[in-house]
Amino acid sequence: MIDKLQNYIKETEAFIASTAEELENFRIKYLGKKGILNDLFEDFKNVPRENKKDVGQKINELKNLVQEKINSFKSSFEESTTSKSGIDLTAPADPNKMGTRHPISLVRNEIIDIFNRIGFTISEGPEIEDDWHVFSALNFPEEHPARDMQDTFFIDDASKILLRTHTSSVQVRVMENSKPPIRTISPGRVFRNEAISARAHCIFHQVEGLYIDENVSFADLKQTLMFFAKEMFGEKTQIRLRPSYFPFTEPSAEMDVACNICGGKGCNVCKYTGWLEILGCGMVDPNVLKNCKIDSEKYTGFAFGMGIERIAMLKYGINDLRLYFENDVRFLNQFKSSL
Ligand code: PHE
Repeated sequence: MIDKLQNYIKETEAFIASTAEELENFRIKYLGKKGILNDLFEDFKNVPRENKKDVGQKINELKNLVQEKINSFKSSFEESTTSKSGIDLTAPADPNKMGTRHPISLVRNEIIDIFNRIGFTISEGPEIEDDWHVFSALNFPEEHPARDMQDTFFIDDASKILLRTHTSSVQVRVMENSKPPIRTISPGRVFRNEAISARAHCIFHQVEGLYIDENVSFADLKQTLMFFAKEMFGEKTQIRLRPSYFPFTEPSAEMDVACNICGGKGCNVCKYTGWLEILGCGMVDPNVLKNCKIDSEKYTGFAFGMGIERIAMLKYGINDLRLYFENDVRFLNQFKSSL
C-alpha cells in the first residue's frame, strides 16, 4: 500500500494542468466521491494496526499535496482568465484613443513657427478690450462703420468696453509698452457680430504681425509675406498684392495667393479668378505710431493680419466654417501633426 501511495504522490507532484478542464478531471480523480482518496481511506480500515501510522501519514501527505496542486492551478487559471468580478483579464486591452489637435491649433502653431524662424516674438492681450486699443489708437475715425453695433459686441456701451474685433489691439499694447525695434505676432480669438454661415462666424482666430524699426519699407513687408506664403503653401506659391484700405495702415494692401486647388487656372473655390485672398497688410500709419508715443519721424513699420480659419480652409480644403466649432470627432480625427 505504501508503494501505491508513493506512486500517487509522484503522479500528483508531476501533474500539470494546462486547462481548467484538465484540472477538474484531476480533482474528480483524487477527491471525487469515487475518487482515489476515498478508496484509500476505505482501504485504510484494513491496514494492520502496526502500519496504520505510516500509511495514515502518507494518505494525509497525498491529500494535502492534491489540494495544494488544485489550489495553485485554480488560482492561476482564475487570475489569467476571469477575475472574481467576472472581468476577463486575458482580453487584449483597448488601445488608448489618442486625441488629435484641432485644425485651428495646428495652423496657428504652424504660422507661429514660421514667423518665429524670422525673429518674431509672440504677444498676447485681453479679449475684452476698450475702444482705445481696438479703434481709437488705430486711427479709426469717430464715425467708422467698424465701430457700429453691427460689427462689434459691446459689453458696456457707456464706457465702450467691447470684445476685440481684431488682435491689432494687442499690438497697440506692445507699442505702448516697448521701444522699437518691435517684431511681434499676436495670435488670438476675435469677435464680430456676424450671422453664422458657411463663410462667416461671430468668433474666429487671427494672427496679426507688426514690425517697427528704422528704415522698414514696403519691400520688407513683401519679402516677409512672400516667405510666409511659401513656407505655408509650398515653394512654388505665388503672391499678389492689391491696393486696399485700412484706417491704421497707409498704403494698405490685400494679399492673394495663387489658388492651390486649381493651380491658378480657376475653380469654384477661387471663384474662377485663380487667386485666393488670405490677408490684409500695409505700412503702419504715422498717426498710429504717434498715438502709441513712438517717434514717427524716426521709425516706420509694417503690419499684417490674417484669419486662421481661412488659412486652414485653404490648406485642408475645408468648405464650411461651422465645422471648426461643431467638434465632430469624425472631422477632427482627420488632422494629425507633430506641431
Ligand atoms: N486688423 C485687420 C483686420 O482685422 C487686418 C490688418 C492688420 C490689416 C494689419 C492691415 C494691417 O481685418
